[in-house]
Amino acid sequence: MTFDTLIKNGIVVTATDTYPSDIGISNGKIVAIGQAMPAESATHSVDAQGNYVFPGGIDVHTHLDMPFGGTKSADDFESGTKAAAFGGTTTLIDFAIQYKGQTLRTALDTWWKKADGKAAIDYGFHCIVTDLPDARLEEMKSLVHEGITSFKLFMAYPGVFMVEDGLIFKAMLKASETGSLICMHAENGGAIDVIVRRALAEGKTAPKYHALTRPTTAEAEATARAIALAEMAGAPVYIVHLSCNEALEKVREARDRGLPTYAETCPQYLYLSLENFDVPGFEGAKYVFTPPLREKWHQEKLWAGLAADHLQVVSTDHCPFCYKEQKELGIGDFTKIPNGGPGIENRLSLVFTGGVQKKRFSVNRFVELVSTTPAKLFGLYPRKGTIAIGSDADLVIFDPNVEDVISAKTHHMRVDYSMFEGIHIKGVPRQVFSRGQLVIDNNKFVGRVGQGEFLKRQLYNSP
Ligand code: URP
Ligand code: ZN
Ligand code: ZN
Repeated sequence: MTFDTLIKNGIVVTATDTYPSDIGISNGKIVAIGQAMPAESATHSVDAQGNYVFPGGIDVHTHLDMPFGGTKSADDFESGTKAAAFGGTTTLIDFAIQYKGQTLRTALDTWWKKADGKAAIDYGFHCIVTDLPDARLEEMKSLVHEGITSFKLFMAYPGVFMVEDGLIFKAMLKASETGSLICMHAENGGAIDVIVRRALAEGKTAPKYHALTRPTTAEAEATARAIALAEMAGAPVYIVHLSCNEALEKVREARDRGLPTYAETCPQYLYLSLENFDVPGFEGAKYVFTPPLREKWHQEKLWAGLAADHLQVVSTDHCPFCYKEQKELGIGDFTKIPNGGPGIENRLSLVFTGGVQKKRFSVNRFVELVSTTPAKLFGLYPRKGTIAIGSDADLVIFDPNVEDVISAKTHHMRVDYSMFEGIHIKGVPRQVFSRGQLVIDNNKFVGRVGQGEFLKRQLYNSP
C-alpha cells in the first residue's frame, strides 16, 4: 500500500484509546493505522516521535465576520480559520444569523458568501433564528436538508436576538420532528434588562457592570426553562457557553433524569473571573462577553463538570473585537461595548493544560471534549472527531512537553489583545493536517486559503 503521507511513531489518542501507531493518509482520508509501516511507502513521511496524534479539534461556537453591537467581529473566515488551525482546530461551526423579516435561507446565503473561498479549514453553520412566524417553521426543514442541522435561539438580548418562549417551544417541536438540535443562549434577558437600566440610572457605566448586572440566577433560571421547554417538546437541547455552577446544576439534574440535555463551556469561564475587571481605566472592556465572567470559585466547578460529563463540550464562543475603536465604543456606557472575546486559537492548549496536565481528566477525555463529542452532537461523526479508517485525515501532532505563554504579540487572531495574556500553557500543536494537507508546520501556516470546505452535516444523534 502506498500513501500520500505517513505519520510515524506518534501516540494515537482517541476518545477511548491511547496507543503507539503510524497513520497512513491517502486522498485526504485515513487509510491505514498500524505499526512499523515503512517510510518509503509514502510520498511524505512525518516523524511524530514523542508526540500525541489527536483528531483535529472541532470548535462548534464561533462568530466570524459577524455584525454585532454597531461593528463587526474582527476575524473573518480567512484570519479566523487560519488562527483556528494554528491552535489545532480543523473544523468549526459558525452562526448564520437570520435578522427580523428575513428568511432562514437569506441567513445561510449571506454566511455562505462570507466563507466562500476564504476558509483554510472545513466549516459548517448553525442558523440563529430571530423571527419564526408559523409560515416560516417549514423553512427549518429545508435548512436541515442543506446540512444545517442545528439552530441557535436567544433568551437574552431583548430587541436584538431574544425570542419568546412560545417561539422557542415551536422551534423545539420542529427540531424534534426534523432531527435537528436547538442550541440555547440561556439568560433571562427581560430581568437583566431591568437590572441594566437601573445600573445606568445610578451612573454605573464602567465595563465591570456588564458582569454585575447579569446574575448567575438569570442564567440558571433560563437554563432550567430551556430544559423544561425541551422536555415538553420531546427535543434535545444544547446549552451554549455555560458559565456558572448554578446553571451547571440545572444541566446535571436534567441529565440525571435521563433527558437529552447537553452543555458546553468555554476557556474564558475556566481561566478568567470577575477579578479580571481589576484593571486600570476602561481595560475591563476586554473581558466583556455574555454570559459574563463569574466569581473565581465557579472555575473549579466547571472543570469538575467537564471531568464528570455534566458538561460535554468545550467551544470558544470566539467573537473578537479589537480594544481600540471597537471595545472603545462603550466608553461611558458598558451596554455599548461589543460583546465577545477572542479565543479560537487557544482552546486546545488551554484545555490540555488545565485538564490533562493538571490531572483533572485523561487525555482521552480531552479528545472527547474538544473533538469527538462535538462531532457526534453536530452530525460530523465519524467523518470528523476520531482517528479511524475512512475518517478525514484532520490530525494534530501535539507536543505535550512544550511550554509557552499566551500573548497578543504572538497570536494569529486579528485582534489587538489576548483575553489570556500571560497564561502559561504546556502542550502545543506542532503540525496540523486538514484532510491530509499540512496546514500548520511548526508555527508556520503552510495551508491554502480557500481549501476549507462547507460541511453538510448529518442529523442530530445522541452521542
Ligand atoms: O458575548 C458573546 N458571547 N458574544 C457572541 C454572541 C453570543 O451570545 O454568543
Ligand atoms: Zn450566546
Ligand atoms: Zn456566541
